[in-house]
Parts: sequence; structure tokens; C-alpha cells
Amino acid sequence: MMQTIYYDLRDTKGQQKEIEEKISAAAKILREGGLVGIPTETVYGLAANGLDPVAVKRIFEAKGRPQDNPLILTIPGQQWLPRFCKDIPPLAYVLARKFWPGPLTMILKCRKDVVPDIITAGLDTVAMRCPNHPVTLAIIREAGIPVAAPSANTSGRPSCTTAQDVLEDMDGKIEGVVDGGPCTVGVESTILDLTCDPPRLLRPGGLPLEALEQLIGPIAVDKAVTGALAEGEQPKAPGMKYRHYAPKAPVTVVTGAPEASARVIRQHVGPTSGVICFDEYVDLFKEQKVQPLGPSGDKLIQAQRVFDALRAFDSSDVTEIYAQCPDNRGLGLAVSNRLKKAAGFHVIEADSLRVVLGITGGTGAGKSSALQAIEDLGGVVVDCDRVYHQMLAEDQEMRNAINAVFPGVFRADGSLNRQKLGQEVFAKKERLDKLNNIVYRFLIPEIQRLVGEGDGLYAIDAINLLESGLDGLCDRTVAVTAPMELRVRRIMARDDITEQYARMRISAQKSDEYYRTKCDCELNNAADTPEAFREEARLYFKRLIDSIKEEKSHG
Ligand code: TXA
Ligand code: MG
Repeated sequence: MMQTIYYDLRDTKGQQKEIEEKISAAAKILREGGLVGIPTETVYGLAANGLDPVAVKRIFEAKGRPQDNPLILTIPGQQWLPRFCKDIPPLAYVLARKFWPGPLTMILKCRKDVVPDIITAGLDTVAMRCPNHPVTLAIIREAGIPVAAPSANTSGRPSCTTAQDVLEDMDGKIEGVVDGGPCTVGVESTILDLTCDPPRLLRPGGLPLEALEQLIGPIAVDKAVTGALAEGEQPKAPGMKYRHYAPKAPVTVVTGAPEASARVIRQHVGPTSGVICFDEYVDLFKEQKVQPLGPSGDKLIQAQRVFDALRAFDSSDVTEIYAQCPDNRGLGLAVSNRLKKAAGFHVIEADSLRVVLGITGGTGAGKSSALQAIEDLGGVVVDCDRVYHQMLAEDQEMRNAINAVFPGVFRADGSLNRQKLGQEVFAKKERLDKLNNIVYRFLIPEIQRLVGEGDGLYAIDAINLLESGLDGLCDRTVAVTAPMELRVRRIMARDDITEQYARMRISAQKSDEYYRTKCDCELNNAADTPEAFREEARLYFKRLIDSIKEEKSHG
């Protein structure tokens, strides 16, 4: 094992002499046929003298890289292009002027003879890149040679976005590593093939497709970018055929609107799962190991985080990984491509259909466990009683409307005099109806707002579901019922009350018969324990939801 020298060049504003010495030392290693880990704006590279086949061969050995996978030739500017390619289309200069130095790699025709076979794996084309990192540009200029520089990871592992990642994979196998700080882009360069017309995107990367198309018009997107290739099918970029970026545990990517994909992941995870999710959903996965991918709306951060997130699970004992995934716009195409490749294109599309269930039923029947089962399925439960009380305290319009009919029920300090309101409506059916009409008029739009318009599963929990008109917001209403004797015993135990009082509480409410006949479906709870019922309810709701979705997708 050799000793890998670490050069700290994170701060290039300090001691100029010291900085120049480190740059010269790295350049010297490269000139002499050694390997150096170098920073770029995308990911760290593993550099060798690109004109020296013996040095380049060592890259393949250090990475464990298949020999048929060509390398990118890294140069400090477009002026170097004619040294390595014979026939450079004007478009290459148009692109270089606009995007170099930067995360764009161009495939050009007709490499010159100085470029060794081993770089291009025998192809007649060559990949050229000019990275946007001052340290690496200085090293290459100082060395005076182009460098072959694939990503610095061991083949198959996630790419390296810090010098520490490089050491993790390459310590003892290479002469040096130059630390230029964490990579600002975080995913590799965009590879554009200019040997065909229209140009073809071979690998999405740090430069968004949209930015390229804005400058040069339509671009073809290679099939390997978005999907798995069929057995034996050859991608244009040989590297795209390998399972890449893969952590040790198998990865499943879940696409779709963030709320929907988060819910789907919730349905799948167990205690040994790892989760890569947008920052907003971290709290959903308290039992799992989580790597946040950044805010769902910030693809710059997602690109910076994606490899680190994948890599981080290798030092944990998770048995499987679920990952949320951004849409394909902008940098999202590169982020989702890296995640999907890490997953071997094992992708679940989060259902984009929305289901609203109304859950009702009398005391002791098991409504709470049923609602927990809905949460277990990733659903959002809206508790109407809580919303109602909050509105009583805060919704001035509703308070005014109540006060107009029941003057004086609000005290001078604004609080509700419950006793007074109770007396007003107790045993006077028309007065109670009046109050309810006011309440429902304000409550329904608020509940409608809370169940939103987004995809996913929602449950409305309301004792007055049917009388209030809230059932109109639901795809199905479900009555939770239970045998009378079981209900009595449950309430006695739960609330520590006498049998007589328990029976009185039940008979003061609407009967199971009422709920059973008015609701669309019934979930009867004869289970021995709340846990057992919760599990039964989960299976029941899962089937119900599937059938609703089935209906909707064919309607
Ligand atoms: O951002 C980047 O491009 C990073 C940093 C280190 O510069 N480098 C990088 O290199 O990602 P690497 O070797 O990990 O990926 C290069 C990809 C491979 O998929 C390879 O097959 C493809 O470029 N490639 C190289 N030469 C090619 C050629 N002549 N034609 C088609 N694809 C080529
Ligand atoms: Mg790579």
C-alpha cells in the first residue's frame, strides 16, 4: 500500500506560496505518471496523465473499472481542443464559449493519435471536459498535460463529493488527494454527443438540458437516461450500462408528487429501512434511518446531497432504502437519473389519485384505532371536533354568526360560555339545528380546505359526518360499529366508569343501526384488542382504497 498524501487547498486566499507549492506537487505527481484525486465543481475526479497509457491503466485498476468504459479527457479551456480532436464542429465552440468552464462534457469526433486507445476504449470519439474549479484548472495548466479523470469513486459506488469520500475509496491506492472543498454542483457533468444530429444527451448532469436547448435548439435524449436498457442493448455512453451509484442495500425510488411519494414510502418502510426524503418529510420517518435530500423545491441542494445520502447508508445496517425523487425538470433530471440508476431502475410510481374517506361511529366502537390504521397507510386524518373548537375560539365570522342568534354566549374576554350555549340549545331541537346550521356552514369549507386538493389519502373524522353534509366531501363513508356488549366493556375500561353509565352514554348517541344504514360501508370491530383491530382496519382500508382507485382510474 502506498501513502496517499493529502493536500489541503480548501482556502485559496491564504498563503500564496504554500498554495503554489501544493499545486506544483500535485502537478508533478501527474506528470510523473501518478494518480491524484482532484476537486471539480461536479464530483471529485481521479486524475492521471491523459497522454500516458501506463498511468491511465492505473486508474482502471484503482477504481476496479471495466476496460470498455472510456474516460473523459479534462482540459483547462477550449484552446486545447484542436490538440486532441481533428474535426471540431462550430457548435462545440458555441457551447464551450457559453458553458466552459462548467459541468458540460462534449463527445467529439476524430480523436488525434496522441490520445491513447485506453482513454476512449478504442472508440473514434473522445469526451472533452473543462471543469470549473480554480485549483484543478491551475494543476492541469501547471502540469501542461490533459488529464484523464473519471469520478474518483470505486466503480459501482456513489460518486465522491468531498475529499474524505475520495480517501474512503482510494486511500493507499493513489499518490495524492487535493481537497478543494465540497463539490458545489454534486452530480457529474452533462454529457452531450455532438457527433450526431441533433446532438444527443447521453447523461443528464450539472448543466440542465433546458439550458442547452435554449442555446442550440432541440436535443435528443438517449434511452439510457430515463429507463433501464434491455438485455444486451448498448448505450451510447458505455458507462451508462453499469449498475451505478449503488449503496450496498437495495434501493427503491418512489416518484410522484412529494406528498404522494412520502405516503407511499410510509406504507412500505419497516424498522430496518433507510429513507432518502425531502426535508419536509423527515419527521414522518422517526423509526427509520433518514438521509434528507434537501427541500422538495430546491434541486440545487438535492444535487449536492444525492451522492452523500446514498453513500451514508453504507456505514449503517439498513436492509433496504426507499428514496423520494424530484421531477425531471432542470437539475431534477440528473438527480432522478442518479437515484434510479442506484435503484437499478426499480421505481414505484406513487399513485396520483386522491381518496377521501369519511369515518364515523359511536363511542367504544373503535373509531380511534380505525383512524390510526389510516395513518398507518400514510393517510392524513382531519379531526372535525378539534377543528370546530379551534374555529369557535378563532374564527371571528363564525363567532359573529353564532352571537347574532345566541347573544351573550361569548364572554367579554372573548371566550365561549359553554354552559350558556348548552342551556340555549339543550332539549330544544330547533335551536340546536339552528346552531348546527351555522357551524356546518363555516366548518365544511374549512374541512374542504384541510383535505386539500392534492393527491393522496385523507380521512374526515366526524361524529356528525352524515348530518353535517361533510359526507359530501367523501368518496366513501365508513361506519365503525361493534357488538353492544363489547362497546360497553371497552368504555368501562377506557374511561373507568360503571356499566350503567357506559350504557347510558351509548344510548344517548345514534345507534349502530343508524350508522350502518346511512354509511356506504361498515367496519365491524369484534377484535380482542385495539392493536388487532388496527391491523384488521388497515387491511380493510387498503382493500377499500384500492377499489376506489380502481374505479376512479377506469371512470
Ligand atoms: O463531472 C464529471 O464528468 C466527472 C468529473 C470528475 O469530471 N467525471 C465523470 O467521469 O463523471 P466518469 O468516468 O465517471 O464518467 C464518464 C462517462 C462514462 O459514462 C463514459 O462511458 C462516458 O462518460 N464516456 C466517456 N467517453 C465517451 C465517449 N467517447 N463516447 C461516449 N461516452 C463516453
Ligand atoms: Mg463515474
